[in-house]
Amino acid sequence: MKEKVTVPGIREMKERGKKIAMLTAYDTPVARILDEAGVDILLVGDSVGSVMAGYPNTLPVTIDEMIYHTRAVVRGTKRALMVIDMPFMSYQISVEDAKRNAGRMIKESGAEAVKLEGGTKMKGVIKAIVDIDIPVMGHIGLTPQSIHQMGGYKVQGKMEEQRRKILEDALAVEESGAFSLVLECIPVELAQEITEKLTIPTIGIGAGTHCDGQVLVIHDLLGLLGEFRPKFVKSYVDLIGVISQAVEEYIKEVREETFPTREHSFYL
Ligand code: KIV
Repeated sequence: MKEKVTVPGIREMKERGKKIAMLTAYDTPVARILDEAGVDILLVGDSVGSVMAGYPNTLPVTIDEMIYHTRAVVRGTKRALMVIDMPFMSYQISVEDAKRNAGRMIKESGAEAVKLEGGTKMKGVIKAIVDIDIPVMGHIGLTPQSIHQMGGYKVQGKMEEQRRKILEDALAVEESGAFSLVLECIPVELAQEITEKLTIPTIGIGAGTHCDGQVLVIHDLLGLLGEFRPKFVKSYVDLIGVISQAVEEYIKEVREETFPTREHSFYL
């Protein structure tokens, strides 16, 4: 195993100009594969709701569900930094509530940092959580927990006023003490400007190549998407095809009685 990835280590990667590779994970076997492959950060995203549970968006995900999946990922992880997403309504009500929930999530899941969505509006919350020594990763631009307010999953920051607002959000997240910042679905030029202005690393998804790192949802990378494929996704393999072929072969062999063979059977 290479050296354990830590929060200061992630900040140093930006200083050294070494790009950060982050992926989501939701279970032990996949986490083990990603960790052994050398990914720097594993995020148990609230995308678990849509990816693993079939919810239409991330809003129904609960703290208990996040903890359950994160404990599974932690059991498969030795090297990567472990980040847990704070789900909708676990940090929006009050600073006290946010601190209590962040503390519970770290304590019960084994994660090393929390991620939460929002910029200027979340300044107080981020600062309060950092003040109790829980590292926070910010997330601005397209923030899926604001789906209804945004009116859909759309690229953010194309118009001048929105562009200025996202820049302000980025600065607010850094000032509040976050150790890194996810930039989701914003124009490449804006992501570049933010990355150059901030001292903390930016991690992009649909934000172009200038970010200090990249993140993808693991099911998207593995081609387990189905029909819907956002522009920013690259699938490196077609696992739907691979799985379908394996299962069709199994069904055929069961019907033809060519599985199980002697090799897979027990005898007296
Ligand atoms: O929930 C998630 O998976 C995320 C990443 C896409 C950044 O927030």
